[in-house]
Amino acid sequence: MATILITGTNRGIGLEFVRQYAASGWDVIATCRQPAAALELRALAAATGRVSIETLDQADPADVAAFAARVAELELDILLHNAALLGPGEAQLLGRFDAAAFDAHYRTNALGPLLLTEALLPAVERGQLRKIVFLGSAAGSTAMLQPPANLYGYRGSKAALHLMVRNLSIDLKARGITVALVNPGLVDTRGLLDLPPDDPGPPDLAHLVKLVRAGLVPLIRAADSVTGMRLLIDEWTLERTGQFVNYDGQALPW
Ligand SMILES: NC(=O)c1ccc[n+]([C@@H]2O[C@H](COP(=O)([O-])OP(=O)(O)OC[C@H]3O[C@@H](n4cnc5c(N)ncnc54)[C@H](OP(=O)(O)O)[C@@H]3O)[C@@H](O)[C@H]2O)c1
Repeated sequence: MATILITGTNRGIGLEFVRQYAASGWDVIATCRQPAAALELRALAAATGRVSIETLDQADPADVAAFAARVAELELDILLHNAALLGPGEAQLLGRFDAAAFDAHYRTNALGPLLLTEALLPAVERGQLRKIVFLGSAAGSTAMLQPPANLYGYRGSKAALHLMVRNLSIDLKARGITVALVNPGLVDTRGLLDLPPDDPGPPDLAHLVKLVRAGLVPLIRAADSVTGMRLLIDEWTLERTGQFVNYDGQALPW
């Protein structure tokens, strides 16, 4: 039986990854910050019997070390870094920069996945598939950057992650570990695609809802994104380690 560890699984894309891997017969170790409040995840665990839920705040190096010690004896086929911090947007605009907000972005999105990877390498080396997957972002690609300039903390921390993933792919190739960087696409994690036609959506997303309805923003469902990414992950071989790829298989520029 294959085992995958997925971070950030109480909502969004992470929850969908848990749903699909568990449905396909995988044993899933699902981490989140507050298991007691993760009602959908707990229901999924109870229904499938394949999901064990662990507490992890990856922004805290001490918590990463304590978590890694708790799961030290695992054999992991895939380590999937999904968790990340996106907002709030206001502190990420020129004129409103906030050092504490930047710190949270870098700790959560760049340092956390790196430290967790280092701590869990023995578990990945014991696994059969030896794959480490990172969810990157088109928003962290220098080559794809376009106006408006925003999300400085999120974009910068994802760009840092991207570079470190590339470094890791070089370090880990000799150890037979495949590293993958995947952009999930623009994914509807707030239910915007299911709003009734006359519902403008939440105030902070009303502009986005208009663009989506006008066909100007290609929002996709989490289920479709995750189905695409699982196929990619299945097929990713050591020869392709360190590549940056969209959920639909298209190669992306750095
Ligand atoms: N959705 C998109 O369109 C999109 C596009 C490009 C890339 N991505 C990437 O895809 C991944 C998933 O995105 P998503 O839209 O599903 O995100 P999301 O809905 O915002 O969920 C983020 C997850 O990360 C967790 N998280 C945040 N800070 C954490 C921390 N310090 N320690 C542990 N977990 C933490 C959250 O837990 P809490 O509930 O406790 O906050 C939540 O489970 C992210 O890496 C994101 O950058 C998403």
